[in-house]
Amino acid sequence: MTVKHLQILHHHNSSTDQNFEKDGHDVIQGLQNNPKILPPKYFYDDRGSELFEQICDLPEYYPTRTEAWILKEYADEIVAITGSCELVELGSGSSTKTRYLLSAYQKAANLLTEVIPDAFSYIPIDVSGGILKTTVLDLQQKYPDLNIEGLIGTYQEALLHLGKNHLRSRMIFFLGSSIGNFNQAESNSFLNEASHALTKGDYFLLGIDLQKPKEILEAAYNDSQEVTAAFNLNMLAHLNWRFQGNFDLDLFKHQAIYNEVDCQIEMYLHAKSAHQVSLDILDLKVPFQSGESILTEISRKFNLEKIQAQLRSQGLETVKIWTDPQQWFGLVLCQV
Ligand code: AVJ
Repeated sequence: MTVKHLQILHHHNSSTDQNFEKDGHDVIQGLQNNPKILPPKYFYDDRGSELFEQICDLPEYYPTRTEAWILKEYADEIVAITGSCELVELGSGSSTKTRYLLSAYQKAANLLTEVIPDAFSYIPIDVSGGILKTTVLDLQQKYPDLNIEGLIGTYQEALLHLGKNHLRSRMIFFLGSSIGNFNQAESNSFLNEASHALTKGDYFLLGIDLQKPKEILEAAYNDSQEVTAAFNLNMLAHLNWRFQGNFDLDLFKHQAIYNEVDCQIEMYLHAKSAHQVSLDILDLKVPFQSGESILTEISRKFNLEKIQAQLRSQGLETVKIWTDPQQWFGLVLCQV
């Protein structure tokens, strides 16, 4: 089935339905690095996106349901502040939590008396074409007034593609604390790229997981059903099909620890024994020592004062912050 309004963004790439640099330069670099590291975007092939959806429902994984509660509780307030605008979501996945926002904007659009062209538009962006396609089809049914334009691509590709919108006000939102995957330098350049896709008066809505006791955090990334372990290992399966590799998933073990100095969860895959892996498309052979690790993800945990200062340094002024009663998760609305 083909979907109207779904666009694949990458240019230098061919045959597959997924959207990654075919060159895999970041994989070569990361696996030749000491210690080894891989970019978290490689979690999200179609299987990985499915596993992530399962993570969101785990009893230990509080971020999704906490953020969903905040969104549900305060969606009308967000709409009242921003008014009608073009909604751009980075890393939209299944857009599940986003529906609270979409419903609130739809309600507001229905109350408009004047005619604003594209009063109600939503641009979901995701690297996983499979989940985006299903989501766009579903949203088109549920929100018939919604002008929807799905983009398959990375954040960078999407932000460049979108440019600035001088005709409509825009809100870019980045939920789920995915900004936690970036280190300090990377998050600065990400925020810089995001604010380049905004004009004065536009909004940026950011979901962030807040600092909390180590036990709660480590449980969220070492769930008892081992879905997070499967999600972590799936990155290797993804690299196998994408780059004709021969990673043996049985030779690796998942670990997630909270680094209290840097306030970040670190997810690793540890080699259980010494062996060599090849990735034929990349013409790459990678030796592993027994116990050697690959860092597959950092997930930073934030402090509300510090993040506001960082946002401000990128031209994004905080308008309002919402949290849950336990202050486990924060939703920051900023304006250029
Ligand atoms: C989607 C990046 C926000 O860091 O919590 C969940 C990904 N990794 N369990 C996170 C993830 C392991 C998630 N983010």
